[in-house]
Amino acid sequence: MPLLTNIGLLAACRDEGGQDAIHAIPNAALAWRGTDIAWVGPADLLPVEYRDDERIDARGQLVVPGLIDCHTHLGFAGWRADEIEMRMRGRTYQEVAAAGGGIARTVAATRAASTDALVDRCARWLGAMLRLGITTVEAKSGYGLDLENEVRLLEVYQTLREMQPVRLVSTLLAAHVVPPEYADRRGHYLEIVCRDLIPLVARRRLARFCDVFVEGSAFTRHEAKAILRRAREHGLGAKLHVDQFADGGGAALAAELNAVSADHLECVSADGIARLAQAGTVAVTLPVAALFVGRPAAPARDLIAAGVPVAVATDFNPGTAPTFHLPLAMLLAATSQRMTPAEVLKGVTMYAARAIGEAALIGSLEAGKRADFAIVDAPDVNHWIYHFAESACTAAYIGGVQVLRIK
Ligand code: NIG
Ligand code: FE
Repeated sequence: MPLLTNIGLLAACRDEGGQDAIHAIPNAALAWRGTDIAWVGPADLLPVEYRDDERIDARGQLVVPGLIDCHTHLGFAGWRADEIEMRMRGRTYQEVAAAGGGIARTVAATRAASTDALVDRCARWLGAMLRLGITTVEAKSGYGLDLENEVRLLEVYQTLREMQPVRLVSTLLAAHVVPPEYADRRGHYLEIVCRDLIPLVARRRLARFCDVFVEGSAFTRHEAKAILRRAREHGLGAKLHVDQFADGGGAALAAELNAVSADHLECVSADGIARLAQAGTVAVTLPVAALFVGRPAAPARDLIAAGVPVAVATDFNPGTAPTFHLPLAMLLAATSQRMTPAEVLKGVTMYAARAIGEAALIGSLEAGKRADFAIVDAPDVNHWIYHFAESACTAAYIGGVQVLRIK
């Protein structure tokens, strides 16, 4: 049975203790049996029964729970690099979308792409994410926007689960925007989503969550309520894209619907923050998207001060966050949102696990949880996040199996 020894510092990142409690253990050891952690603690307290285990030398490096990117739009075809030029020339994200760019353009490209091509792209990206220490990814649909193509994107995620090691949690985001062909009949599209798509996805167990983009150009709070209530009836948990470009009362809505997470929140109000705190909803902050649309990211300090758990994710998508580089999002959360590196680490481990309903299995290094962890060539969490080294992650394990070895 394997035992990881000579760990310079291990951050256990248990749930208790708040945003900056990462439960760091110097000179640690980590033992596992099959897929699950059996024991973790200071090496000199290692119980006798683990002393004869097959030893793996961490060479004094840092060990953290496998990173979790809890908000991505992984499955899409094409790119929209030309839109960044338009935006740099002064057009807003909404103006670019109104001029025929934006989400609708990616929807057209995605519908036209073959399933194999979509699988290949995602598999390549997941491989690159793994090299950054990411062991779990939440992946939304949302670029199909009709029954066949939303299901197809979720099937792509099923296929990926079978062909590569990174854990995937799927979310149905059929309510991303109203697809162009339903522009004059939005009620009809909503009916398809609620009457046909949600029950079908639930029956085939293609997604765990349902998400809605609440915004002027997308869906109203009222529509979101109807969709997410329907989703709940079919056993899908609720997630929401809210308060991104304006305060639309989205945080309060997420709290009211008992959503597992409220994501974006760049423009969240003080009242919205208080409601999230009361409900225990996780706030998912997406600083890469804020950077790309040229607006301040969510008020992480205010959220944390109010007792809201803050997760950090990439929002990987071709429009507002064209990178899956979670360590970049982590660095931005520190530099632009004034989260300390420890707070950021909690936000990409335990609180990210809570944001995808997986905290019982992953997100921390504790006996009984899956042995998902990354070995990082850094003396501590501060150094790792600020130095932002190219290949900081030197090894990764998922369910006790080594899936990455850099050196
Ligand atoms: O999370 N907010 C809505 N959806 C994405 C953007 C999608 C796109 O531009 O393609 C986001 O920022
Ligand atoms: Fe998003």
